[in-house]
Amino acid sequence: MGVEVAVEGLTKSFGSQKIWEDVTFTLPKGEVSALLGPSGTGKSVFLKSLIGLLRPEAGSIHIGDTDILQCTSKELYEVRKLFGVLFQDGALFGSMNLYDNVAFPLREHTRKSESEVRKIVMEKLELTGLTGAEGKLPGEISGGMRKRAGLARALVLDPEIILVDEPDSGLDPVRTTYLAQSLIDINAQIDATILIVTHNINLARTVPDNLGMLYRKRLVMFGPREVLLTSEEPSVRQFLRGSKIGPIGMSEEKDDAQMREELAQAEAGHSDGSVGEDEMRGVPPQMQPTPGSPTRQGEIRREERVRDMLDTLPQNAQDAIREEWASRGHGNGNATAGVGAGAAASSSDSVDDHYGSSAQ
Ligand SMILES: Nc1ncnc2c1ncn2[C@@H]1O[C@H](COP(=O)(O)OP(=O)(O)O)[C@@H](O)[C@H]1O
Ligand SMILES: [Mg+2]
Repeated sequence: MGVEVAVEGLTKSFGSQKIWEDVTFTLPKGEVSALLGPSGTGKSVFLKSLIGLLRPEAGSIHIGDTDILQCTSKELYEVRKLFGVLFQDGALFGSMNLYDNVAFPLREHTRKSESEVRKIVMEKLELTGLTGAEGKLPGEISGGMRKRAGLARALVLDPEIILVDEPDSGLDPVRTTYLAQSLIDINAQIDATILIVTHNINLARTVPDNLGMLYRKRLVMFGPREVLLTSEEPSVRQFLRGSKIGPIGMSEEKDDAQMREELAQAEAGHSDGSVGEDEMRGVPPQMQPTPGSPTRQGEIRREERVRDMLDTLPQNAQDAIREEWASRGHGNGNATAGVGAGAAASSSDSVDDHYGSSAQ
């Protein structure tokens, strides 16, 4: 099962340039989370901080029980083994074929025999849809295949935590969906904690259990995806629509005069090409594991977690969550269609209570 990652009061600067400050949130074990944010807000810096490649000057990062900002370098070395990281460009070795690229961490970090290595490598290549391509060099394959090879390599040491930096960069929307599907399937199979950093709105709306956004050096929000997706926070709404109208400008922030001018232009009929205000409202159905995959244990745990905090969430988010559960048969005695009978058996009583107590 994946490991919980708990970040508290985290602040990172380079010299006098503050990247973000006082970032606090928890990645629940075995759930899929995503972090949105405009370019340059420090999303990659954040991922590198989580694996101890960069060192924030304040706060704590607990990976399971270990605070990696306090621990010894030997402990950090051990903690790093829990991670599988897919960097933005796949970061493959150009002179090695896919097989050797994927085998690399096993040969480097374990004493496995070549036949054991082969078994694992072929398994991960199959999981990422690359069977048959193992002899190819990175330069001979498409960007989508390179990403998947990077993912296969991130998986060979059976990570408990998978970090993915902009899985969509350089990929068309269809290949992005395939890659996202692989991540969901992997989560179902190995129950790893997954964090995806992205500015792809469609991915953020449909893939994660939890969603947050970095903006103006702060974590604007983080929680069940329904909270951000139904939020009225201007920066969040603007980002989801990809609109010029709102507080986010060409160079991150803009002043009130520019905001007023753009608003006046829009009111006078100028289109900035963004989708309508209503189109990005609401919570689309979440991407499910490919039929035949195991049930996502993270989804079962998330449901219990969210039920416990439901009353504390904004009303819009509560409504969206209840609607989603109702559409899957909760609250009317049916088994849970999306998450398997186990969840329904263990939680149906309190779910019904919840509907009873909050349907005012
Ligand atoms: N090693 C570094 N040294 C100094 N500045 C850095 C370093 N890495 C990133 N930065 C700066 O941190 C900011 C955030 O970068 P990054 O995390 O790459 O943004 P994002 O991934 O959200 O687009 C940028 O202004 C970048 O120039
Ligand atoms: Mg980045």
